[in-house]
Amino acid sequence: MKNDGLFSAFRIKNITFKNRLGVAPMTRTSSSQDGIPRQDVLDFLVLRAKNGAAVVYTEAIVTDYESAQGYPRQSRLTTQRQIDAWKPVVQAIKKEGAVAIMQMFHCGRVATTEVNPANRVIAPSPLTPRQHNPSSKAPYPVPDEISLFDMQHVLLGFVETARGAVAAGFDGVEVHCAHGYLLNEFLSNYSNQRQDAYGGSVEKRFRFVHEVVQAVREVVPQDRLFLVRISNWGVVDMDVELFTKTEYQEVIRLFSKEPIDAISVSTYDYKQKAFGSDQNMAQITREVTTLPILICGKVHDRSSAEEALRDADLVLSAKSILLNPQWVEDVRSGKPLPARKSEEANIAYTDAPLT
Ligand SMILES: Cc1cc2nc3c(=O)[nH]c(=O)nc-3n(C[C@H](O)[C@H](O)[C@H](O)COP(=O)(O)O)c2cc1C
Repeated sequence: MKNDGLFSAFRIKNITFKNRLGVAPMTRTSSSQDGIPRQDVLDFLVLRAKNGAAVVYTEAIVTDYESAQGYPRQSRLTTQRQIDAWKPVVQAIKKEGAVAIMQMFHCGRVATTEVNPANRVIAPSPLTPRQHNPSSKAPYPVPDEISLFDMQHVLLGFVETARGAVAAGFDGVEVHCAHGYLLNEFLSNYSNQRQDAYGGSVEKRFRFVHEVVQAVREVVPQDRLFLVRISNWGVVDMDVELFTKTEYQEVIRLFSKEPIDAISVSTYDYKQKAFGSDQNMAQITREVTTLPILICGKVHDRSSAEEALRDADLVLSAKSILLNPQWVEDVRSGKPLPARKSEEANIAYTDAPLT
């Protein structure tokens, strides 16, 4: 757990990270009907490993064919063809000495019916975000309140996708519990108004996440990593804080009792003070857990990376590493690097090949 510099190694169980910098999960919407990303999108990940990233995340992979998908052309990892497509990518990432992690999610109420074969949107409660869908400009559809039957189906989607990742050789899997997607929706009373065993207190809101985590761990061998990602914000209604500090720390305490190996904390800006306190999200997380912490949010150069690492064990970049294949080496050299804007990253969702 000792944190001794950006270019020092770090170990979680039997897995070594050669330095503290990595590629954050980034959705790319490039898959065709077969749920397999475009070749240049896969090559992009391998190139980041070759150029020094210690860990490379996949885009968020959707977990089932009924209601999980939120964006067009997302990928899946449950069929043999999908597994076979990822295998050489994972091998190549590992050959470069990087750790390969598959992130998976169910979009919950941030889904749209058009992109889901079953034409359904489900969420803990039948509540829509205030914000309209940024692509269609239409209001999000009112979700069906997820039933106990639906929950089993959703859970099995996570399990099947984790099995796909294990078969493809990934070093680890991450369950996305952040950004206002389904599992995050369960955790926050902004979206979870259930009156049953899955709503109410933080512990009850955590219950479905607990069930998913337990079920996924069963299929992720102990020699692979199992992570969760959490945030206090969502991709829709971004101004809303999803937790109070007490609730957030309770969620982290509950995660710490689960059979997971690390927590990835997603922020918009790693240094921003959270919950009206004088601490940032990593510090607030660290206060209540001994698990390794990954941090992300506006890390763009050597000094911001070093500062972010003070309160965490690994630092992820999305926009900077997306737009600059040499980012890790540029950070190492300490050269001045630009802070990237969200609009610049929209290129990720286009057909433009990125090096
Ligand atoms: C193009 C793009 C796609 C993203 N897709 C995902 C995703 O699939 N899963 C996820 O957890 N976060 C996703 N994010 C959020 C990033 O992982 C990260 O938390 C956020 O961009 C802040 O880091 P940054 O300031 O280094 O960009 C995405 C970000 C970008 C820019």
